[in-house]
Amino acid sequence: MIPSDVKATLSFSDGSPNMDLPLYKGTIGPDVIDIRKLYAQTGKFTYDPGFLSTASCNSTITYIDGDKGELLYRGYPIEQLATSCDYLETCYLLLYGELPNPAQKEEFVARVTNHTMVNEQMQFFLRGFRRDAHPMAVMTGLVGAMSAFYHDSTDINNPEHREIAAIRLIAKMPTLVAMAYKYTVGQPYIYPKNDLSYAGNFMRMMFATPCEDYKPNDVLVRAMDRIFILHADHEQNASTSTVRLCGSSGTNPFAAIAAGVACLWGPAHGGANEAALNMLEDIQRNGGVAKIGEFIKQVKDKNSGVKLMGFGHRVYKNYDPRAKLMRETCHEVLDELGLHNDPMFKLAMELEKIALEDEYFVARKLYPNVDFYSGIVQRAIGIPVPLFTAIFSLARTVGWIAQLNEMIGDPEYKIGRPRQLYVGATARNVKPIGER
Ligand code: CMC
Repeated sequence: MIPSDVKATLSFSDGSPNMDLPLYKGTIGPDVIDIRKLYAQTGKFTYDPGFLSTASCNSTITYIDGDKGELLYRGYPIEQLATSCDYLETCYLLLYGELPNPAQKEEFVARVTNHTMVNEQMQFFLRGFRRDAHPMAVMTGLVGAMSAFYHDSTDINNPEHREIAAIRLIAKMPTLVAMAYKYTVGQPYIYPKNDLSYAGNFMRMMFATPCEDYKPNDVLVRAMDRIFILHADHEQNASTSTVRLCGSSGTNPFAAIAAGVACLWGPAHGGANEAALNMLEDIQRNGGVAKIGEFIKQVKDKNSGVKLMGFGHRVYKNYDPRAKLMRETCHEVLDELGLHNDPMFKLAMELEKIALEDEYFVARKLYPNVDFYSGIVQRAIGIPVPLFTAIFSLARTVGWIAQLNEMIGDPEYKIGRPRQLYVGATARNVKPIGER
């Protein structure tokens, strides 16, 4: 961390002594005030539910400028990565800090490809779930269960274990997501086919059957690959912070990633892609474009509890750059499949237009986020709605691992242990049950 010449001074109105707090500069982005000694010197904590002003770590992986609508992985703009690189190159970049040269790429792809199969026993574990279980419930279980299958990569403090766990997770997530899907539809699992691309292999495991092979279509494979790239990392979001916090106890990497999957499931986070599509389907069922005005009215009514899913972001107060790229992919996919007149897409475009012009959304800087479009793309490709978030978890796995590795390698790393402002009862005595 680069120390700043500026110091912050904290003063108190009750006459307690002032405290100087050091500031550190990032390479870009806001400076941070170092409050680590605050409690020791003043006996006070800071209070910041939701981490609105708190940096929980320093990181070299991903940078977001929410006002500009900028997203960088290791310094590279997401727009360039999405158009010039594939997902496995992006994984390499996130994990090791640099884009691979051709030889490094070949070696990395070969290593990942070598691990695409899962232990045969895992299918019996999967069979314990109800067939109608939500794929994210299944994924949380399957990823956590990996620690029971791969004992030689469970020591989070051993860099070799972490490396092999990373490769295994990246390689096996598509296989697990496809297995979870096949299980719900009662079809046999399709084994990975290692001469296909990462995204192509995933789509074949999803859509092939033993009776009929699936020939991946280039446009759709590119779209899926782009979904993976755009979701690969997003700095200290809720699931990534969960993975860091979980891993900070020294638990094994599979358990920490399973915690990330569980957190991602929520509709305010990764579950928004599923929620956004369900919302569009709901509006469509209830009258379509003609009913948008009524729906927007509900969204603006704070008592209704209705939100425009796929809109708004904690960090982006401008157009989500991932949404722009996904919007482009959306057009490509709908063109390729001849679905441009798809009513759901028309509805989404109309909803976007109205929301972008509406004072409520303009004043609050609410723009479409990536999930507004990724659902439409996935639906067009033939992915069932409940699987959207599982695909997000597949893509985000590399980001979680890169962040976990960064944390473990940081000499300042400590177990995460937030403090609290206690506002409950003061100490009191337990009365015998008959006197209560
Ligand atoms: N629809 C209607 N109003 C909204 C929405 C929305 N989608 N998002 C925010 N607002 C309002 C909110 O009610 C508040 O209004 P007011 O100032 O009058 O109280 C104001 O905008 C600020 O919102 P906030 O709740 O303080 O913002 P936040 O940073 O806590 O929440 C969010 C961010 C993403 C949870 C929220 O925008 C949201 O729930 N969006 C819908 C879910 C969604 O699409 N999530 C996907 C995020 S992108 C994928 C990912 O990275 O996980």
